[in-house]
Amino acid sequence: MRFDQPATTNPIDRGRVVGVPHDRIDGPAKVTGTAPYAYERHDAAPDAAYGWIVGSAIARGRITAIDTRAAEAAPGVLGVVTHENAGPLGKGRFNTAHLLGGPAIEHYDQALALVVAETLEQARDAAALVRIDCVAEEGRFDLAAGIDGAEVPGPFFGKDPDSAAGDFDAAFAAAPVKVDQTYTTPDHSHAMMEPHATTALWADGRLTLWTSNQMVAWTVGEVARTLNMPPENIRLVSPYVGGGFGAKLFLRADALMAALGARHVGRPVKVALARPQVPNNTVHRPATIQRVRIGADRNGVIDAIAHESWSGNLPGGNVEMAAMQTRLLYGGRNRLTRHRIAALDLPEGNSMRAPGEAVGMLALEVAMDELAEACGVDPVELRIRNDVAYDPEAGPDRPFSSRPFVDCLRRGAERFGWSRRNPTPGRVRDGRWLVGMGMAAAFRGNQMSRSAARVGVDGRGTVTVETDMTDIGTGTYTILAQTAAETLGVPLEAVRVHLGDSRFPVAAGSGGQWGANSAASGVYAACMTLREALAQKAGFNAGDAVFENGAIVAGNRSVPIADVAGREGVWVEDAIEFGDLDKTYAQGTFGAHFCEVGVDAYTGEIRVRRMVGAFAAGRILNPKSARNQIIGAMTMGVGAALMEELVVDTRHGYFVNHDLAEYHVPVHADIPDQDVLFIEELDDKSSPLKAKGVGELGICGAGAAVANAVHNACGVRIRAYPLTLDKVLRGLGAVT
Ligand code: MOS
Repeated sequence: MRFDQPATTNPIDRGRVVGVPHDRIDGPAKVTGTAPYAYERHDAAPDAAYGWIVGSAIARGRITAIDTRAAEAAPGVLGVVTHENAGPLGKGRFNTAHLLGGPAIEHYDQALALVVAETLEQARDAAALVRIDCVAEEGRFDLAAGIDGAEVPGPFFGKDPDSAAGDFDAAFAAAPVKVDQTYTTPDHSHAMMEPHATTALWADGRLTLWTSNQMVAWTVGEVARTLNMPPENIRLVSPYVGGGFGAKLFLRADALMAALGARHVGRPVKVALARPQVPNNTVHRPATIQRVRIGADRNGVIDAIAHESWSGNLPGGNVEMAAMQTRLLYGGRNRLTRHRIAALDLPEGNSMRAPGEAVGMLALEVAMDELAEACGVDPVELRIRNDVAYDPEAGPDRPFSSRPFVDCLRRGAERFGWSRRNPTPGRVRDGRWLVGMGMAAAFRGNQMSRSAARVGVDGRGTVTVETDMTDIGTGTYTILAQTAAETLGVPLEAVRVHLGDSRFPVAAGSGGQWGANSAASGVYAACMTLREALAQKAGFNAGDAVFENGAIVAGNRSVPIADVAGREGVWVEDAIEFGDLDKTYAQGTFGAHFCEVGVDAYTGEIRVRRMVGAFAAGRILNPKSARNQIIGAMTMGVGAALMEELVVDTRHGYFVNHDLAEYHVPVHADIPDQDVLFIEELDDKSSPLKAKGVGELGICGAGAAVANAVHNACGVRIRAYPLTLDKVLRGLGAVT
């Protein structure tokens, strides 16, 4: 099914199953421990041995000698894989560094060996006996020091690193009110619950990987390129993923090393990264330095806006596109965005939940707060005054497909009680607490991606959906079941969904918040094709037939689809293919965050008291799982605002706080009260479902709302995230 014209009325509009809050259909399997995760495939590989990765102790240099004899002689050890015996390896397109290092070492904790043993303890114990001699070379580990030599990166996902419209310099120089500030965000760790894990099995030259991965088809391709083997001989199975946030978009060392280990010892092998290995062995969100300049009139109407961002990566790695939202979010005729990349020898930086916007909004939305203050305009009103109905770089010929941004601002403000805010910082006191309110916009682009599914119905009327789509904790199983149930007119309980197997048709995968809309549209396409097949088999004209209550109905005739399916059942496959509607129209998801914090007047401790967010993302397929996505993302925004920071050792080139004891993320006690409301809208240019994604929207701007609330509470403006209490105290000293 091609989607290149706006959607018209279709079976999804019935709204009996889609758009209704449903519990996760995979919930019982998860809470009873019967959902098999990658490391737990005792069923498929009962004789699996255990691998332990030996990582590099230096950031950059060369191996001069590896001695594995002591490790190989240790109890239970079956073998040790290194670059010397792994055989020739290619490299995937998405990996910047090699997943198995040697003789060159490209980053700290890069995998240099895998010890395989009968038990996990034996493997880990013997790993300490692997002797790797190397010579270290000088590396570049400090982003701030590297930005002078930063370069123009290549296009990222087809987007140019620079953009301009009008004459920014002249307009900014002439503006009566100016903001010119620089904000910094540190490296972030994905900190998903399930570390990277894989069980690998070889049989007759064919490889099966049970692994925890967001993008099944991409990763099959990467395994094929890395192991120099045909993709047909690789099966990748990833039905349950304990969180990913982008860390599992691509092939990582757990999967490659498990495959190499299993081939080396002739047994299935499983490899999981220990938590302290995750930040340095895998990927992280790169740190940024962002300069934002805004020139406005005295009413706060923007005439000039510029956003420049610097980030670093291993040579060949991606830039963090932190200025992307500034191309679309606010009006103003004179505009400029720039991204620059510095070469660093830290572990690879890569996508993490809302790459670009998540950190870009931390800068832009504080700059907007600073503009509001400079103009004496309320921050909500300021954003309303700068709303724009079209892509402000391209002009009115490229309108937004839908943009209920002002509704989000107004409805969120009302729900939150924004009118009770005192605009003068430091005026509201609750005992020792200075209390403040802050807000920020939410914005994240809307991307779509081809997605296929196979759908069948059997003689009992049970509908089965098969697609290689993944559910990374987002609720994919449930929304795909809802989509099939709605389209085919059967109850949700009649639908079975099987995901995450490369034997199934290739779906969009879980990334960039495109998964829900794209994959559900793929299931919709397949179900519409199944309707035609069933109608034809039953002698109906598909155009006249209505599918409801498990039957095909037209005129006086009604036939249960179970009867039509018969003993053989009826199966079809189809895909959604997206045309150019995302080029003709600017597309995005919108929202507004509101936050109340208390700042301890004596210690600088910040406590979030409550948050409200209002969001618009087209049809909300399942309000329950969508709300859950938003709440999780808002929580992650609080983490970015207040605590998350990978601390770089700029001498030796690694992340020092590489575990959850020292890399802090919010816990329940940090997040007292969150309220989410969705603005009702349908976006007929986004997909036949008129839906968009919400998986990343909630993080975008959330942290800036916290930072703005801190400023309102105590008058301290912190532009270097996270807002730790030392920075608050330093500012409080200057204020009081
Ligand atoms: Mo997302 S950062 O594309 O998983």
